[in-house]
Amino acid sequence: MSDHCPTLRRNGDQVIILDQTRLPWQEVFVCLDTLDDAATAIRDMQVRGAPLIGATAAFGIALALRNNASDAALQAADACLRATRPTAVNLHWALDRMQAALRPLPAAERSAAAWAAAEAIQSGDAAANAAIGHHGLGLLQALAANQNQPLHVMTHCNAGWLATCGHGTALAPIYAAHAAGIEVHVWVSETRPRNQGLLTAWELARAGVPHTLIADNAAGWLMAEGRVDAVITGADRIAANGDTANKVGTYLKALAARAHDIPFYIAAPRSTVDFNCPHGRAIPIEERSADEVRIIQGLDAAGLPAGIRLAGPTTAACNPAFDVTPAGLVAGIICEFGVFPADGLAAIAGRQA
Ligand code: MRU
Repeated sequence: MSDHCPTLRRNGDQVIILDQTRLPWQEVFVCLDTLDDAATAIRDMQVRGAPLIGATAAFGIALALRNNASDAALQAADACLRATRPTAVNLHWALDRMQAALRPLPAAERSAAAWAAAEAIQSGDAAANAAIGHHGLGLLQALAANQNQPLHVMTHCNAGWLATCGHGTALAPIYAAHAAGIEVHVWVSETRPRNQGLLTAWELARAGVPHTLIADNAAGWLMAEGRVDAVITGADRIAANGDTANKVGTYLKALAARAHDIPFYIAAPRSTVDFNCPHGRAIPIEERSADEVRIIQGLDAAGLPAGIRLAGPTTAACNPAFDVTPAGLVAGIICEFGVFPADGLAAIAGRQA
């Protein structure tokens, strides 16, 4: 398994996070003390990835209720956290769960219950990751049996342990395959503009999983050349019909995979499925700052983290952070309950995350 250190952990009545804006150059842990700290960490992407955003929001409620657990304080904390990022539905799922656990309780009992509920969300996500790894391993074993190893799997963004509370979603089957002795090699697309692919490369390097970083635009050509056996990505919100929002660029990979007859899988826990959302057009897509496109983060000549300007401040830039892959392009959705056809999610509608 991966060399996995927690991205988020409780420390008494505080929360410690690994600041992902400093990776892959620096490993810096940051202490969250207040509701505002938690909301800022989510908004500024110190924590990121749908399941981790949900867990951080849950701990944000616990931080908020430490000194005031009134109805008004609970409501204000909920509203503040819900407004941080729009696309990942795990945020709303986690906050709904916190509300359901805390609302019925007298204020005096809410603080302890909030910590317990947040920790349950965290451990539940870790368990879901493990089950996704197990089910995805079956798919990778079947693919590996049909060909000479190594198995070349492409992923996009980061859907590993940095994005979750366990071993990840899209990366969980890869870690499981590596642990099972399957020779697996991962194509890691850099994922402009925030370059979450660098996080994936950093994770895979720590776990000793062979991988190669590519420019996003190289994905189609590698598929055309027969150098990709499967694509697995995570998800931020899956509509009831199986249309899936994930990091921008996922859709292009799914289109190219279909053109070359390569299976394209989504790996995500039940908490990422939004049965209130009928189809992909109804998924809110986050638009982030144009400066994320104009200015790239890296190391300067002195080896220190710095922003490097690529385009002038007057260059118009558009930055949708996610796109939607239609269900018809998805070979299967790997969740903690098994592998389902994208148009067959009704089978898990009644099951709790
Ligand atoms: O903007 P981010 O970095 O939070 O986006 C993350 C993704 O799109 C991930 O692929 C998705 O959340 C799945 S994480 C297990």
